[in-house]
Amino acid sequence: GEGVVRRDRFSGGPARSFLSSLEADRRIFEADLEVDRAHVLMLAEQGIVEDDVAGEILTALDAIEVDGHGSLPDGEDVHEAIETAVIQRIGEEGGKMHTARSRNDEVAACIRYRLREDVLDAIETTLALREALVGVAEANAETIMPGYTHLQPAQPITVAHWACSYEGAVRRDTERLLEAYARINQSPLGGAAFAGTTFDIDRERTAELLGFEGIVENSMDASSSRDFLLETTQALSTHATTLSGLAEDLIVFANRGFVDLADDYSSTSSIMPQKKNPDTLELVRAVAGDAAGSVQGLTTTLKGLPRAYNRDLQRATTHAWETVDAVTDASEVAAGAVATANWNEEVLAAEAGAGFSTATGVADLLAANGLPFRTAHEMVAIAAANGGDYDAIESAAREVLGEPLESFVDPAAVEAALDPVESVASRDSQGGPAPEAVADQLEAAREALSTD
Ligand code: ARG
Repeated sequence: GEGVVRRDRFSGGPARSFLSSLEADRRIFEADLEVDRAHVLMLAEQGIVEDDVAGEILTALDAIEVDGHGSLPDGEDVHEAIETAVIQRIGEEGGKMHTARSRNDEVAACIRYRLREDVLDAIETTLALREALVGVAEANAETIMPGYTHLQPAQPITVAHWACSYEGAVRRDTERLLEAYARINQSPLGGAAFAGTTFDIDRERTAELLGFEGIVENSMDASSSRDFLLETTQALSTHATTLSGLAEDLIVFANRGFVDLADDYSSTSSIMPQKKNPDTLELVRAVAGDAAGSVQGLTTTLKGLPRAYNRDLQRATTHAWETVDAVTDASEVAAGAVATANWNEEVLAAEAGAGFSTATGVADLLAANGLPFRTAHEMVAIAAANGGDYDAIESAAREVLGEPLESFVDPAAVEAALDPVESVASRDSQGGPAPEAVADQLEAAREALSTD
């Protein structure tokens, strides 16, 4: 039979299944067919393969697509198996499809072709998450809540300000993924094994047929570089890290009764009937670990690889698929959990001022009335140690300054600074939590969402 000798040389032996990527290549089955079609069409247009042979190959590829990956003959990988299937259908002439290319440029083209789609899906989920965060912010422009540093009560903010803080981070995650996408979207096809070809191929044409923006010019770079995988996996890992912080915040907030997760995003216990647990968010938090592990695995696999193609690259790809799947799922689930959570305004309002969280605002007020900020800070710290209320501030003033509080500041202004709502409203610096400052942030968030 056709091609038997060549294939027998590679297909036997105890290392057969260790070598083969055929199962993993299920992911690039459709991509490989598209790459084959583009290549064969270009070969015909260039007069490298006869039109009728090209036509037969294209017909065979269509039939192979209908039969599906599961019907492929055995092979070291999907590229070999599809070629074998074409030859089985139309005879020895089918082998012309591999003129002027190698599996090395072919697989690189397939990975880029498929990864493009997957990264677009990942980007979609970042947009959905941003949409959800903007929705939460719009609905909670005035919902006061405690803000933390070191997980200790720090200063009151609003739920909108919190949501916008994550929207900004996810927006940069989108940008990083878009940048990675632009570099994925370059065609390596025609690089051949690594050293180009004697045939008069048209690389721009196959790039165009496959919807790539341009080509990776140098044939050795085209066939062997995988920095696009690294960059994409890193961008996904960064997004997963953002998600893990968001998930952690919501887990803590749920724990404190600030927010109720929708039942759809919660789990119960198999033994404790009263339990409602934030399991989905815990899994979102965990994906950051998987993604960081993949970045590490991929980096280590690529490190020190010589030019040009080495089979190590077969195992590099898997890290990117696993990461894009896990992070896209996590991002989608996070968006759903954010969009459906219920914020408990009363609990949040009651907690917003806890732990003398308005202390900074009181110190700011004293500083605005002429006291050096450091002196104000010391004075309010003494008040904090003595209960953190108006009376404590008053006696701290006598202790530190030797005069009554009202001799240098309006008592009503101090009362206002102690009120969490007033405290938030007064922090209207650019990017701050005051409702009008958050309105500007929201406008920018909406604008970016409409263009990304
Ligand atoms: N299955 C291989 C991979 O994923 C395809 C390229 C094989 N090329 C080679 N020269 N062995 O990388």
